[in-house]
Amino acid sequence: MPDTAPQPSNRPPLPPEIARRRTFAIISHPDAGKTTLTEKFLLYGGAIQMAGQVRAKGEARRTRSDFMQMEKDRGISVSASAMSFDYDGHRFNLVDTPGHSDFSEDTYRTLTAVDAAIMVIDGAKGVESQTRKLFEVCRLRDLPILTFCNKMDREARDTFEIIDEIQENLAIDVAPASWPIGQGAEFLGCYDLIHDRLELMDRADRNRVAQTVRLDGLDDPRMADHIPPRLLEQLREEVEMARGLLPAFDRQSFLEGHLTPIWFGSAINSFGVRELMEGIAEYGPPPQPQRAGREVAPEETPVTGFVFKVQANMDPKHRDRVAFVRLASGHFQRGMKMLHVRSGKQMTISAPVLFLAADREVTEEAWAGDIIGIPNHGQLRIGDALTEGEPLRFTGIPAFAPELLRTARAGDPMKAKHLEKALMQFAEEGAARVFKPAIGSGFIVGVVGALQFDVLASRIELEYGLPVRFEGSQFTSARWVSGERTAVEAFAGANRGHMATDHDGDPVYLTRLQWDIDRVARDHPEVRLSATKEPAV
Ligand code: G4P
Repeated sequence: MPDTAPQPSNRPPLPPEIARRRTFAIISHPDAGKTTLTEKFLLYGGAIQMAGQVRAKGEARRTRSDFMQMEKDRGISVSASAMSFDYDGHRFNLVDTPGHSDFSEDTYRTLTAVDAAIMVIDGAKGVESQTRKLFEVCRLRDLPILTFCNKMDREARDTFEIIDEIQENLAIDVAPASWPIGQGAEFLGCYDLIHDRLELMDRADRNRVAQTVRLDGLDDPRMADHIPPRLLEQLREEVEMARGLLPAFDRQSFLEGHLTPIWFGSAINSFGVRELMEGIAEYGPPPQPQRAGREVAPEETPVTGFVFKVQANMDPKHRDRVAFVRLASGHFQRGMKMLHVRSGKQMTISAPVLFLAADREVTEEAWAGDIIGIPNHGQLRIGDALTEGEPLRFTGIPAFAPELLRTARAGDPMKAKHLEKALMQFAEEGAARVFKPAIGSGFIVGVVGALQFDVLASRIELEYGLPVRFEGSQFTSARWVSGERTAVEAFAGANRGHMATDHDGDPVYLTRLQWDIDRVARDHPEVRLSATKEPAV
């Protein structure tokens, strides 16, 4: 049996309120079943009252939060980038990751706010391109990963083949937490290898949790009451092989990101979901220390947190802006005065929002590991730290240089000023980079994936009533310039045709040639060009 202590042995015990928190994200290739699984989590967590199929399809729904789309489709009020709910004595904080590959930067930042990830794969398709990309991001942060192999009620690949593919493609050990019995039309359920019990799927009712039959191991004669002889023989053979060939679950190795436990199931049939939730509760990491120059431990008394996402115009009728803050330490209470480290100003957090159960609610308190929303008028930006006085700077929440640049033009030239305001707003939200060239007028907008231009254009039109065009720019790359102030100013003065400032006012060098970037590195050792920018303090 694995060690089920909530805290790895080399750390002091956490206060129980913190120890019971699990903050995680779900990553998957589109269509693997992330939305369906999320919905079942919310259902079991009591956050929604009914489940059904989420209908919306196509690109549009992936361009914004899947949670928001669920709200639209289902008339349920989730409307947030984070949802909290209680399950089995634990508080789960589930952070939404955007579904589309074009939003990798946003996804990267989202993953800075979680302690673990669930990787959903489609049993027929195995490891897909987006799974691999997201997995790599998790690996950069050594996040522990739990795997859910979904759609076992359809024709799936051979179980060993799926596990091999994960091990080989993602270079991680896989320990089966459950083993499927049959597949496709013959899929009956799973044998739970951790608890030695049989889980049977109820096909008649998709919203009912599987029936659990407690048995004394695989040789229990009562197995034959539930499984036809051929499948039973196959199950015994496969489990014996799996136990011989594959690593057993080891919590430490999982917490270090070297091993992933895998559950097999069918989200749409509510099968395997509860076991997965129990897995997160039992083995998943409690809130982890965060890097901020020094390590900020969750059990520290002073409250600290950082902004990992800003969402504007959640309600188009009110120009509201919500900063999502991951609490890194302490016990937060409503009305607290906190230092906004970047500006050096005190902020009273009077209306913190917790996205709990079916509502967005003003919360009286929150603990390290929680995600709170702070409504504000634009003071809070991605990467900002809030503390009780210490000038902390959380690291690892970089901005990435955009890979595509275009010039933004207002459809109506009289509205150029309005367009500037809209663009700045999206820049602060982190939806795009906006650069103001040193020479000439207009703005250059940079994104990571081409689809973001379409999303931006439609949001600017929808939320600001401004038609906008994105046209080809003479530049293709952007690099932040840093160094001694006088050196940067001299460099900027000598290269005015290439210079711009970002929405923070920081200098940026624009070019169309890698050769130019190499030349600057060679000829100007006094300045540094960089493709990422850690948020300013
Ligand atoms: P995503 O968020 O990862 O993109 O996936 P989503 O949950 O939307 O699921 C994608 C499709 O897969 C959905 O079908 C969903 O009903 C289906 N699905 C999810 N889990 C299971 C499962 O366990 N078994 C089976 N058989 N299907 C599952 P859809 O949107 O209704 O499309 P379609 O089925 O009408 O083509």
